Amino acid sequence: MRMTYTSDLWWKNAVVYCLDVETFKDGDGDGIGDFRGLTQEIDYLADLGVTCLWLMPFYPTANRDDGYDVTDFYSVDPRLGTLGDFVEFMRTAHDRGMRVIADLVVNHTSDRHPWFLEARKGKDAPMRDWFVWKDEPGPEPEQVVFPDQEDSVWERDDRSGQYYLHSFYKHQPDLNMGNPEVRDEISRILGFWMELGLAGFRVDAVPFLIENVSPQLGEPHEVLAGLRAFMTRRKGNSVLLGEVNLPYKELVSYFGDGLGDELTMCFDFTVMQRAWLALARREAAPLVAALRERPDAPKDAQWATFLRNHDELTLDQLSDEERQEVFRAFGPEERMQIFGRGLRRRMPGMFDGDLRRMKLAYSLMFSLPGTPVIFYGEEIGLGENLDVEGRMAVRTPMQWSKDGGFSPAEPVRPMPGGRFGPEHVNVEDQKRDTDSLLRWFQLLIERYRECPELAWGEYEPLDAGHPAVHAHRSDADGATVVAVHNLGDEAVEAEVELDGLAGSLLTDLLVDGTVEVPESGPVRLPLDPYGTRWLRVSARKKPAEDASIKAH
Ligand code: NOJ
Repeated sequence: MRMTYTSDLWWKNAVVYCLDVETFKDGDGDGIGDFRGLTQEIDYLADLGVTCLWLMPFYPTANRDDGYDVTDFYSVDPRLGTLGDFVEFMRTAHDRGMRVIADLVVNHTSDRHPWFLEARKGKDAPMRDWFVWKDEPGPEPEQVVFPDQEDSVWERDDRSGQYYLHSFYKHQPDLNMGNPEVRDEISRILGFWMELGLAGFRVDAVPFLIENVSPQLGEPHEVLAGLRAFMTRRKGNSVLLGEVNLPYKELVSYFGDGLGDELTMCFDFTVMQRAWLALARREAAPLVAALRERPDAPKDAQWATFLRNHDELTLDQLSDEERQEVFRAFGPEERMQIFGRGLRRRMPGMFDGDLRRMKLAYSLMFSLPGTPVIFYGEEIGLGENLDVEGRMAVRTPMQWSKDGGFSPAEPVRPMPGGRFGPEHVNVEDQKRDTDSLLRWFQLLIERYRECPELAWGEYEPLDAGHPAVHAHRSDADGATVVAVHNLGDEAVEAEVELDGLAGSLLTDLLVDGTVEVPESGPVRLPLDPYGTRWLRVSARKKPAEDASIKAH
């Protein structure tokens, strides 16, 4: 493992921060976040240590799925600003050394997109074949994505009597990726935003995107390889970060079997879900099992680690019993759950405000091999607002100051009240408080960036002699970091066997202190309840006499 090209392969240990322009900061006082507001806060993000922003969809939209229903792929939603504002924002982000990627939502359009309006004019309409039509409803999946609103993925179009495919809501007709014209158009969309400076895309709903490519028109995965090849021709270090919520066995092909020529990064939904099970049980085993099972990403590709995203915190890869365990621990009330498979809560509520446990969870996530992706507000402990409908409960505005500070007007969505309201949770206060979550996050990110072996290295789980303790080492290029995390609520002394490191020094990177690895037997590492330690390995200093001999 060589880390020589860390800046060429910038995504390998990036710190990705996902935000919605609409809820981040309002710059024109209308209650809706916008590019001008976001641009004012770029320094906040740079100080936090973010290296790559992921913008949720900011395109013109019918806004029936929070922007994931696009009506024009080549513009900016007028509520959020203009293309001019976008370019100014990009320039500022680049000036502060940050890359920007954005959601690419091309599995479907809005049913109000001009392409669909054209296509539904009749069976012979020139754009008919840009979407997927059948005379009779086609096969149904085992479960639809939004069971609260849909019971089929086929919708009858009254004018023609035919049915169109919609993998998500019925107002989101699927584009026909089997149509070469559609694929060319998608390349144009990629090219357009890359010319404006995007470093890549978070690709929405990847398995759905390629599923309707008919085998006569080529291997579905060639669609992804084609997009990636196009981007690489335009810009060698651009990335595709894919949303592929599948078990590893199926998922790994989305990196491009053997060749690594499809997605540059895939979100690791398995580790995310197993981590929550581990946290619920206060036991490392479920997480270790997932990481052992996880295939290596191909050379130059990377896993993206996360604990929650903007959607429901999905637990669909757990068994029914395991899911119920997590529900019981972190979201026992029905209103906290959604679609029968996930939680519409953020971490502070799930951990009942226990800062120690929040730090533990993020420290663990950042220490795992992969590129961490955080969702805006996680760094200050933003809570959810369960009074807001559905998945939007976790998409409330960023809290900048005691009075909210998001907008002088009524915000686009109500902030939470009570102990997670802006009087108690906001950026301004936490900036002034050296013990705040925000300050700790800054340190965590700084350390993560200083330890590229965590992201790049070989993950080796270590026996720590206690079921609550997750211990692992990451080795790359002759450098080693050991990370030890106590998932339990009782203090423990971990006993960690470190092969080949007898006599080395372990320097704690998050709190003060140095420990020496004994010549034989395990190193003993005391851990507080929910305690965490990141330990950099270095050789023991030569005895002083050596130095004096050399001096003579
Ligand atoms: C996945 C996105 O994350 C989600 O928010 C959206 O509703 C669906 N794809 C449809 O675009």
